Order: sequence, then C-alpha cells, then structure tokens
Amino acid sequence: MSSGLQEEVSETLEDEEDSTLAATRKLARMERLQQAEENKTGKPRNTYLLRISLKTMMRLYKWRTVQSMIFGQPLVFDMAYENYMNCREMNNTGRQLMESEGWNRRAVDPFHLHFCNLKIDGPYHKELAKCYGEAWDDLLVTVTEQSHIDVFPRNKLIYLTADSPNVMKTFEHDKIYIIGSFVDRRIQTGLSLSQAKQLKLTTQRLPLEKYLNWGLGGKNLTLDQMIRILLILKDTGDWMEALKFIRKQECVQKTKQKNSKNKQTKKNTPKKSPTTTNCVEKLCFCNL
Ligand SMILES: C[S@@+](CC[C@H](N)C(=O)[O-])C[C@H]1O[C@@H](n2cnc3c(N)ncnc32)[C@H](O)[C@@H]1O
Repeated sequence: MSSGLQEEVSETLEDEEDSTLAATRKLARMERLQQAEENKTGKPRNTYLLRISLKTMMRLYKWRTVQSMIFGQPLVFDMAYENYMNCREMNNTGRQLMESEGWNRRAVDPFHLHFCNLKIDGPYHKELAKCYGEAWDDLLVTVTEQSHIDVFPRNKLIYLTADSPNVMKTFEHDKIYIIGSFVDRRIQTGLSLSQAKQLKLTTQRLPLEKYLNWGLGGKNLTLDQMIRILLILKDTGDWMEALKFIRKQECVQKTKQKNSKNKQTKKNTPKKSPTTTNCVEKLCFCNL
C-alpha cells in the first residue's frame, strides 16, 4: 500500500474510533442522568444489580486480611525445603504459593499466613520476590526466618503430611496447621513427615481415601488445593464440601485420560457409547 493511502486509511479508522468512543460516552452520560432523575423521585431504587467495583472488592479483601493478621487463626507454610528443590520445582512452588495466598485473601474468613523458615535473600525469598514483583513488600503475610516451633507453642502445632499414620478427623480452630511448602516432581516420599518427626510435632493426613475414590496413586495435593480445603473446612467443618472441588478436578482429569486413551484405541475398537464420560464421573462419586 502506498504511504498516502496508508495515512488515509489510518485517519478513517481513527475517525471511526473517535465517533464510537463519543457515542459510548454519550450513552453512559444519558444513563447517569436518567439514574439521577430516578433518584430524585424518592422511590426506592432497585439495587440488586448494583455493581461493586473491583477496587471496592480489593479494599474489602485487604480489610479482611488485615483483620485476620490481628485476630485470625494462623496457618504456617514451612519454607525449610529450598535445598530439596531444583529451579523448576522452586518456580512451581512460588506460583502455587501465590495462588494459595490469593485464595486466602479472597476468603470470607482468611487465615493469618506465616511463611516460617524463610531465609532472607535465600533462593526461596528471591523466587517469591521475583513472582510478586513490587507487590511482595505490601503482602499481608507474616514472613520470618524463625522456625514455627520458635513462634508458636509446640502442643498447638499440627504438621500436615500425606505420609502421616494419623488421619485428620475434624478441623480444630485452636490449632495451628503447617503445610510443607514445596513441590516435588520427583516425589520425595516422607520428607515432610521426617521434618515433623525431628521436631516432635503431631502429624495428620487428610482423609482422602474416605471421601474420594482415589485408587492407589500418591495422595500428595498441591499447596493451593491444601489451602482451599482448609479454608472450606474452617468455614463449614464439612469434608464433602471441602473436597468437592478435588472430586471435580479428578473427574476432569480422569475424563481427559479416558478420552486420550479412547483416541489411541479408536482405530482398533468399535465406537464407544456416549455414556463413557458419565461412567467415569459416577466412579469418582461412588464412595460418597
Ligand atoms: C506437594 S506436597 C509435598 C509432598 C512431599 N513428598 C512431602 O514429603 O510432604 C506439599 C505439602 O502439602 C501437604 N499435603 C499434601 N497432600 C497432603 C495430604 N494428603 N494430607 C496432608 N497434607 C498434605 C503437606 O504439608 C506437604 O508437605
């Protein structure tokens, strides 16, 4: 296209954008005027569709989190595992922690999060600072180099680990739960259990086999799954409710696996009935 024609086209586009913008503004102004007019009549307004801005929601979340830092139940993320992870695992952990903190911040009754055993300027600290950027300094989380046993009474602490022989029965509001803050793609079984044993702490595992049709696979959940479960348990005390989203995630995963298997064997086998997916879903719920 010649440069003259290009200029002409871009001018036309700019003109069109301007007129659309002007029309949108005009419409918004008219709506505002109409709203103001309605308000003057003194009649009660229909507020069920009242829009709450994101900024207001953020302020509410912040307020709740600040409250939790004063009055809330502590929840510890034990950051003592930086020597057990490679770069990729550390990066995954950083992202899972961000997600966990996000779930907590948006909760109705958040935990007071403690990142214990976090070595200042250590690899873990650097990873989190990188993930969060400037927001790291404003994060409403207690960060300390101290161990949880130096911060809280030992008899209040419960270390959560999938390898514990003790099954968690109920959520205790006066206890302080600890989550081992690491992701191990090459699964290092028993690592958090041995940490807890060294410190002579009570350990518990989630009752996954009781509520989920889990099979024989590993029962290690991710950090964000852990905090979601604990937040729901704290609110409701209901295991079914707390594990509901895991069941859904599992179902989706199992369905995907099943579908990819089906694709692989499609050539050799007769067509599957459309009820295959439903069967997988039923499987997941059959222990309820
Ligand atoms: C990805 S897991 C780490 C697994 C690791 N192999 C270990 O030794 O704990 C991260 C943390 O989530 C918690 N966790 C995961 N699944 C759990 C379960 N089924 N019961 C209790 N805690 C669990 C534990 O605190 C664990 O340290």
